[in-house]
Parts: sequence; C-alpha cells; structure tokens
Amino acid sequence: MAAQTVSRRSALKAAALVAAWSASPLRAAARAADAAQVSSKIEALIAAMTLDEKAGQLTLMPSAWGGSKAAGLNPPGNGQSFESQIENAVAGKLTGVFNGNGAVMAQRMQRAVMERSRLKIPLIFAADVIHGHRTIFPIPVGEAASFEPELAERTARAAAFEAAGAGIDWTFAPMVDIARDQRWGRVMEGAGEDVLIGRAFAAARVRGFQGHRLTDDDAMLACAKHFAAYGAAEAGLDYNTVDLSERTLREVYLPPFKAAFDAGAVSTMASFNEISGVPSTANHWLLTELLRNEWGFKGLVVSDYTGDEELILHGVARDGRDAARLAILAGTDMSMASNLYALHLPDLVRAGEVPLERVDEAVRRTLTIKSMLGLFDDPFRRIDPNREKYRSRRPAALALAREAGWKSIVMLKNEGDILPLAKSAKVAVIGPFAAGQHDLIGGWCVYGDDEQAIDLATGMRNAGGQITVTQGSGIEEPLEGGVEAAVAAARNAEVVVLSLGESQDMSGEAQSRVDIVVPPPQQALAEAVAAVGKPTVVVLRNGRALALAGAVRDAPAILVTWYLGSESGNAIADILYGKRSPSARLPISFPYASGQEPYYYDRKTTGRPQPAGERADYKAQFRTVPNAALFPFGHGLTYGKIGYGDFAAGDGKLAWDGALEVSALVVNSGKRAVDEVVQLYVHDKVASVTRPVRQLVAFRKVALAPGASQRVRFTIRRDALEFYGLADKPTVEPGEFKVWIAPSAQHDGASGSITLVR
Ligand code: NOJ
Repeated sequence: MAAQTVSRRSALKAAALVAAWSASPLRAAARAADAAQVSSKIEALIAAMTLDEKAGQLTLMPSAWGGSKAAGLNPPGNGQSFESQIENAVAGKLTGVFNGNGAVMAQRMQRAVMERSRLKIPLIFAADVIHGHRTIFPIPVGEAASFEPELAERTARAAAFEAAGAGIDWTFAPMVDIARDQRWGRVMEGAGEDVLIGRAFAAARVRGFQGHRLTDDDAMLACAKHFAAYGAAEAGLDYNTVDLSERTLREVYLPPFKAAFDAGAVSTMASFNEISGVPSTANHWLLTELLRNEWGFKGLVVSDYTGDEELILHGVARDGRDAARLAILAGTDMSMASNLYALHLPDLVRAGEVPLERVDEAVRRTLTIKSMLGLFDDPFRRIDPNREKYRSRRPAALALAREAGWKSIVMLKNEGDILPLAKSAKVAVIGPFAAGQHDLIGGWCVYGDDEQAIDLATGMRNAGGQITVTQGSGIEEPLEGGVEAAVAAARNAEVVVLSLGESQDMSGEAQSRVDIVVPPPQQALAEAVAAVGKPTVVVLRNGRALALAGAVRDAPAILVTWYLGSESGNAIADILYGKRSPSARLPISFPYASGQEPYYYDRKTTGRPQPAGERADYKAQFRTVPNAALFPFGHGLTYGKIGYGDFAAGDGKLAWDGALEVSALVVNSGKRAVDEVVQLYVHDKVASVTRPVRQLVAFRKVALAPGASQRVRFTIRRDALEFYGLADKPTVEPGEFKVWIAPSAQHDGASGSITLVR
C-alpha cells in the first residue's frame, strides 16, 4: 500500500475531533494549538499505515494472558497463546486487548510493540471495570438506589484510580441501559428503570471514570453501553429482539446515552440486539445519522463481543466478510473479539466495497482516543506494577465501599420498628447468604474477589452482635436437614435474620429468569422459620427486583441488599444495628408477580385504568394482582417517621419561559436523624400523545433531625415537561399538570396542580 499524503480535509477532521474534545467541559485545558499538532501527527501516521495495519488498529481482542476471569465472562476467545498475541500486536494486527491481567501483562505487550513494531503505535488496554476493580462497590443498580449520583461519581473515581494503576486505559462502563423488565439479568448493571436516574448516574459515572483530565494516570476512558435499547429485549430475554417506537427509543432509552456523551464520554459500544429489524452493529440510522449527524458525537464506536460476526446469525449478513462490510459502513469503528475487520477490511477496500475514507475515519477516531489518553506521549503512563500494588484496596477505598454499601440498602418494611436490632439481642442468622465467601461482590467483577469481601455473619460479629449461623438451604437446592436446623436455631433466638435471594450468577449477562422469585427451597425455609413466630428480618440478596411472596413478603422487616461488594457484611450490619439509618430508594419496581413484567412506574394509564385499589370489570388489571407494584419505584423507609404535607405552588402558573417553585413540608416526627429522598413527580393531564401516569422530574436527599420539619422546594421549568411529540421532535404543550412531592411513585405525598401558560 503506497503512502498517502495528508489531505487537508482529513487533517481538519482530526483537528475538529480533538477540538470538540477540548471544548467539552472536562477538557477545557487542551488548547487548539495542541489539537492541530496532534492531528497532524495522527494524519502522518494514517498516511504511513498499510491497509492491514489500519484494519489492525480497528481490531480489539480479548487478552490471551492466562488466569483472567474474563474468559468466563465472555464466549471463548480465539484460543491464542499470549506469545502469539504479542507477535500479532508487533505485526500491527491489534489495537489493544481487553480484560487482561494487570500491569505486568500490559508492560510486556506494550514494550514489545514500542520496541519492535513498525509504526510504534501504542496499544490500548480495556476492561470491564463495572463496579470497582480490586475494591468492589455495590452493583450499579444497588448504587443507584442511593439516589446519590455524586456517590457513584466517587466510586467510579476510586475504581479508575485502582484500574488505571493496573494499566487499564479504557473501561467498558458505564452501562446506561434502562431496564424495565426485571426478568432481564443485566438489570444489575445499570441504574434501573427511570430515565432521570439513568441520566444522572450515567453522567456521574462518566465524570468519575474520566476524572480531571484523560491524560492523568488515574483516568480511564468511559464507554457508554450498549447503544441502544439493549434493555428492551422482548420477555427480558438477553440478546432478544427489540421492537419499539422511535418515541420510546428517544424518550426512554436514548437520554442516558446523551447524558453520558454530554458529560464527556467519547466512546460507546454498539448493542447486540436489533431494533425493529436492524441489529445495532449494522444500524446506519442509529450509529451515523442519529449519533453523529444529529447528536454530533465525535468519539469512537466499538462493537460488542463478536457483535459484527453475529450479524450472520441475525440473518442480515451472508458471511464474515459481509458482516464486516455492514458493520463498518453503518458506523462501527472498532471490532471486538471477532477479528473480522483484520481479516476482511483490506480486501473490502481493495474491492471498492468499503471506501478507504471510511476506514481512515475509524482509524483517526481510534488514534485520537489513544492520543487523548496520553498514550503517544507516554505509552507506559498507566503501566507500573508497583503502582498497581500500592493503589489496590487502599483503606480510603474500602471505607468508600462501606459507605456506598449502607447507602445502597433499601428498607422495604419495618413493622413494629423491629429494626434496628439491639446488639444484645440473640440473633439467629439463617439462610444460604448468612455466611461464607460467596455472592458478596456481585456479577461483572473481572478483578474482584469474594474471598476478600466481608460476609454478613462477619459484619454482624464485627458490629458486636450476638449471632448463631445456620445455612438452612442451598440457593436453588434444599439442604438435607437444613430446615430442621434452622427451625431449632430460630427457637433458640430472640430475633431471626433470614438472608435469602439469588446467587450472583442468577443475574448478569445471559441470566434471564422466567420467575423472578426467591428460589423455592429458600421460600420453604422461610415458611418453616416464620412458623416459629420469632420477629424476623428478611435480608435479600438480589441483582434485580423480585416478586416476593408468602413468609418472605409478610416478614415484618425486609432489607434489599443487592450485592454490596467488598464491605458487604459491614455495610449491612451498619443498617441492622442502627449505626446508620437506611436512606436508599428502589430504582426498580418490585411487582406482585413475575407475570406483570415488564412493569415500570412511568407506565401509561390506558383508556381503562384499574380503579384505585379495587377490581372492576373490563379494566386494565390482572385477575389476581393489582396493576401496581408491591413495592414501587422510589420506595424506601428510614428509621425516622416521615410525613409529607402542605403542598404549595404559588399561583400555580408556570410562564412559558419562566420558573415556578413548588414545595411541600416534610416532617420527621421520629426519634432518629435521617436522610429522606424527596421526589418530585408530574403527570401531563391532556397532551397530544399519551403521557405516563407519573414521571420523576427531580429528587433531593434531605437531612432531617428528630422532630425537624423542612419545606422542600423544587423549581419547575418548561423543559421538565417536555416529551417527544407528534411532529417527531421534543415538544411542550401548555395546560394542566398534576404534581406530587412524595416518598415514592405510588405514594400520594403532598400534591397539587400547576398550569403551563404560553
Ligand atoms: C459482552 C458484554 O455485552 C459487554 O458489556 C462487555 O463489555 C463485553 N462482553 C466485553 O467483556
């Protein structure tokens, strides 16, 4: 391949990329002069590259270094040895690897490339750092329950500090897919069902991962995934068909991506699924018309793991060559794991089926990303085995994991104030999650370790609790003699803590469930223990919302504890023994029954809504359960006694370009200081398209001392009332809106009406 001259157009394009980056709030420091210099370096490289080297720059492979947990997280890689992978990298056939194993691995690869490759283009090291690296934080949906995006920013920052210390430049996170069907296993990985929470946590996590400057040795490039609508899979079956209206796509599934990009994310991952017949990896409308032309996204699109190759099984590509052609033409810049770009792009260009400019554009984006990460200046800036050790599991990170842990625990019930427990109480801790180094850190932990995490029993003992531990049951299988032992333990105790739920392998990728219930052997254990009649606290371990039933549902106290990570047991003990008051809220609705799924609070009323609390003929209702949640989105109790009242909205008129303050009096008549998450919901009473029964438009965590009351104020502007209108664009219509200031999506709280006037 003959060297090409640097065209002015392509130089300008690269300069624009870097300049757009510089202009983002995070990158204000980068100057235009630097941008021009960087872009001419990149153009010179592109001009010097062969077609094979270009295809190599667009090829990302799973690390072949042995011993990594990553192999278990993905379908098997291509079986290469580490040595042959190094030789591939030296030959320019690789842009980098992902889910490798630390700084030593990265050092060996990078050194080989910088010493022996023709063009000395540094490798990029990527990984799934989803909720921590060595210090593990709560699974993302759990952390979203904190309703504290700033907390997620801090845990993402801490994760980047550790992971970048281990040579990782690029994290495949945040996962920003809205999840409205709890059968889907990847609910655990996102921020739940709500768009506002989804946007806030997407932006916070991007800020956290990317830090102050992307060139810093503790910053990682964020990758908002999976673009798009991956969470809308039919029946909650992972990878399944997605068929939805453009209105729902734009109103529900896309906004968290936009928020991530606005916060500075310059990479995104194409999703596995199709949308209305077109798989995302081959979706030109999605990846080019919308993402680039409409939104002006300047970053890089990477496929998901063999996402391009899967176009064959989707039935839109004839073979690997055709799949590579479709993917690159649609706008997928980089191919992950299939090697199809390396194999076919050169020939596709030579045959005139893919324009060289399109390949150059993708290479330009890749090199620009590497340049933004500072890799051209110092390819080893994140690679230092000593730093890797020093940064791992620092006390400050573990303290943050504990804080994030207790802030993620949702208290669903606390009848008779049985919580918090007295330390002197004799507690029987019963259930498969009562003790043991398993199911603590949760799914999607490539580098974390259950062995290093604190289990529930240890946490309770650390807190000074008087406990006995009885397993009682396996997770999905009964345990011989288990129920009898548990019943005996319950008889000998004053209080029972029943630790039940899902193993961490029951949620996550490809872990869809038909019945989102506590597995039957554990349910049987709960029934037997409940019959003993001791005050019982259910401590759930879960990666999704569950449909609770029988003795589990009817226990006087229930805590949702997800998988809380490294400090799991200590964090749960903080809540159980009252060192902390619960403050978290459900980011996903807990339905009455699995058959209600997909269930989400911001659903439509329909023309025949079920009358509140009753059954009536010919209404939108199920025969056996209400058309509502058992525990709704936004729900969560504290150790205080919180009341809402005295709604105020001035004259109730919101001027078109104005702002209106709405407020309510929130009172804590309890004996404990608490943090209350106050939520503002609206409902558009009449609009040209149907609107949700309620929509969260703002929230605030408010500290309330015992006996304190506070007027909690929100300012509403027109944009909070916007929707995707009949004319296929964002619109706002004047008229009346119902407003609630409330503790959950199903609670009346304090409410009134406002009118938007033009
Ligand atoms: C497949 C998953 O869908 C994606 O989220 C992940 O980043 C890649 N595998 C790489 O592990």
